[in-house]
Amino acid sequence: MVKVITYGTYDLLHYGHIRLLERARELGDYLIVGVTADDFDRIRGKINVQQSLEDRVAAIQATGIPDKIIIEEYEGQKIDDIRKYGIDIFAVGSDWTGYFDYLNEYCKVVYLPRTEGVSSSAIRADRSALKLGMVGYAPYLKKFYNESVYVNAIDIAGLCVPSPDVLPELEKEIEYYTIDYENLLNRVDAVYIHSHPSLHYSQIKSALLHCRHVLCESPLALSRAECEELFNLAEKKNLVLMEANRTAYITAYARMLLLIKGGKIGRVVSVDATCTSLTSLSNCTKMWGALEAWGPTTMLPVFQILGTNYLETKCFTLKDNSTGDDYFTKIDFFYPNAAATIKVGTGVKSEGELVVSGTEGYIYVPAPWWKTDYFEIRYENPANNKRYFYQLEGEGIRYELVAFANATRDGNPDYYISREISMKFAEIMERNPDI
Ligand code: CTP
Repeated sequence: MVKVITYGTYDLLHYGHIRLLERARELGDYLIVGVTADDFDRIRGKINVQQSLEDRVAAIQATGIPDKIIIEEYEGQKIDDIRKYGIDIFAVGSDWTGYFDYLNEYCKVVYLPRTEGVSSSAIRADRSALKLGMVGYAPYLKKFYNESVYVNAIDIAGLCVPSPDVLPELEKEIEYYTIDYENLLNRVDAVYIHSHPSLHYSQIKSALLHCRHVLCESPLALSRAECEELFNLAEKKNLVLMEANRTAYITAYARMLLLIKGGKIGRVVSVDATCTSLTSLSNCTKMWGALEAWGPTTMLPVFQILGTNYLETKCFTLKDNSTGDDYFTKIDFFYPNAAATIKVGTGVKSEGELVVSGTEGYIYVPAPWWKTDYFEIRYENPANNKRYFYQLEGEGIRYELVAFANATRDGNPDYYISREISMKFAEIMERNPDI
């Protein structure tokens, strides 16, 4: 029996895929199809895949062509599979010609002519992209724009900043610029907000009233009641209101949370998160204080690991006499059987690390932990230590954008950050008005 194997993502299964599978099947007597796992695609930079692994597998199964379907999860797996299943022929489309020649050592490699004129990328591009407007802090919007070009479900269609200092580099790329937020809202399907936190509530509300989806930097509002009102409004209008806290969308961070929930370090007794920078953001008229700039980022792991039902908090803060803004703040959260500390600074430098301590071991995420690709689980016996690495493309912003685009299409915007956590961020801001 001649065994054939082929691999692919098979997103939005199309005629080109089916033709390839049929021809691969004809090369032998038994066909195995390897479908790439979501994670593996993300790690190798293919972030725009629109269907889940389950849906992609179901679509291939429904063709009735493969004898067996397997999941491709890691680099180097092809060699493992070829040996494990006793494969005679490795087949793949001609767009890969030469790339898999190294497999000739293990079996015969066949490149089948690719079907012209169809691809998953083209089908994805044809599905109309979400027209996104950007408003707020100009330098960050440049960074945001640069990452958005990797997300084909998003098209940056307009920009609203108080001064055109952002324009020289972006004016060629973004067709529409205004200083009037209303004008921006009239031209787009959704907005990304990176304004001073004191503007978030009114800008989000106005966008929702214009029936626009919203992706807004944390905190969404400066009081719990306002935050709740915004979520209720979004729900009533069937719109997505999502928190742009990019750490939440990064694979390494998400894996770390799963390992903790799975008991890898025993019961968690403390979470310590630090984020500092020596420069502060400014929108020309107002500076971001340390808690405004970094608070939600540091509180994210605290609330996602320990929950939001702490018993009390204690806060220490240092303020700049001239601006009245905090340049260093430390908050301790006390839970019935655990404690957490966040340290944030915009005029103080410290090690930006995250440590999660448990009864059996601890997790160490080195600086800058909020855009991490790496962490370690450390135990009493160092021989048991484990290191985890997940490729991070860019700074995580593109993953957040993919999640936002998916949420506007398929719903479930709370998948990454729950509403309760968003409301808790707002509540902490409200409880510390002097910070
Ligand atoms: N394929 C093909 N003809 C096409 C498209 C894909 O023969 N028009 C083959 C590829 O060469 C590969 C398999 O189908 O062997 C799975 O390809 P995949 O990368 O999943 O599909 P694409 O449509 O190429 O996806 P993308 O546009 O995201 O790269």
